[in-house]
Amino acid sequence: MTSANALSQRLQAHANRQGLLPFSVFMEHALYDKCDGFYTSGDAPYADYFTSVSVHPSLFGQLLATHLGDVWRVLGQPDPFRVVELGAADGRLADQIRQAAANYSWGKGLAYVGVERAPAAQTADALDSLYASIVDVPAATATAIISNEFFDALPVRLARRATDGWVEECVAVESEGWVFADQPAPEEIRAYANRYASGTPMGGRIEVRQGIEQIFRHAARLASHVVMTTIDYGAVSALLHSERLAAGTLLAYRRHRASDDVLANPGSADLTAHVNFTQLIDVGRSQGFGCYRMGQQADFLAALGIGDHLVRFQERPDVTLATYRAEREAVFQLVSPTDLGRFQVLTQGKGVDLSPIRGLDALTD
Ligand SMILES: C[S@@+](CC[C@H](N)C(=O)[O-])C[C@H]1O[C@@H](n2cnc3c(N)ncnc32)[C@H](O)[C@@H]1O
Repeated sequence: MTSANALSQRLQAHANRQGLLPFSVFMEHALYDKCDGFYTSGDAPYADYFTSVSVHPSLFGQLLATHLGDVWRVLGQPDPFRVVELGAADGRLADQIRQAAANYSWGKGLAYVGVERAPAAQTADALDSLYASIVDVPAATATAIISNEFFDALPVRLARRATDGWVEECVAVESEGWVFADQPAPEEIRAYANRYASGTPMGGRIEVRQGIEQIFRHAARLASHVVMTTIDYGAVSALLHSERLAAGTLLAYRRHRASDDVLANPGSADLTAHVNFTQLIDVGRSQGFGCYRMGQQADFLAALGIGDHLVRFQERPDVTLATYRAEREAVFQLVSPTDLGRFQVLTQGKGVDLSPIRGLDALTD
């Protein structure tokens, strides 16, 4: 039996009524169940959390504030300058950006909007306003949207290439607990696989993320001029759905430890799968985000001045060997190709020219 926890029992009752559940239903409840979800239940997941935001108290926010200065210019220097953060968590990135923004002319007009379904955001002082979903954010004149590790936390359906076509890997309850069980893949999955997963070998697994269209539809509705910057695990589809990643990318993280036992103790682990950036580009384009630029976090942060940070830090009068080493370690984690530096950064624009954006390759249709 994988788990007898309360959430697992409720999900089992659901599965007993419905039969097979798409994995996205299991993941939705495991992460966002109101009582016992990983993000939405009482205990604060962010306290034991490792992202680019948490590796240093201010550095990632400082560098993103420099990027937001580029975005502000691209948007025509709006005042107020509305920044919408998707997946704002407990407001820690908002706090870092707000502090750094005090050094910029656009900082006075900053209106920082959090979009977050977890209750931790409700006490975040750095957010000027908070919405549980992008659907609820009102339209304005110009808007910057940013997110870090937001898309990887959206539920995914699972599919496997079988000899006679694609099958969906659903979940079911058996005497030994949660197990995977196949059913014929529905049209939505087959269409995704035909478009993006021709490189997945026989027996290989893909994740099909839910809700992307809805997010871009509402992102496009927010203003006539929108710049959306997405930072996340992932790759373009030719790399993501390939021989090298034939087992798929779905993982459970418990206290920084990755495990492929994603069905154990729902609600006790973060569940995450890599983002298909080609899909973000395609869906964005269909909603009016006609231009985009993309690159790796390491190059992006280098162009925004992460190298200068260490030089400035070592000139501080209070610097010690220990504080310098800690600072250098944080910089290393943010740019290392085996760590957060391998994240992808995608900036998409609607009604704007993205050429002044630093640190990302220019890619337009
Ligand atoms: C992996 S965490 C990243 C948190 C933070 N951005 C960081 O980098 O540390 C993903 C966050 O997105 C939130 N989230 C996921 N789906 C959401 C949705 N549809 N609307 C609002 N928030 C969502 C989760 O509750 C969680 O706080």
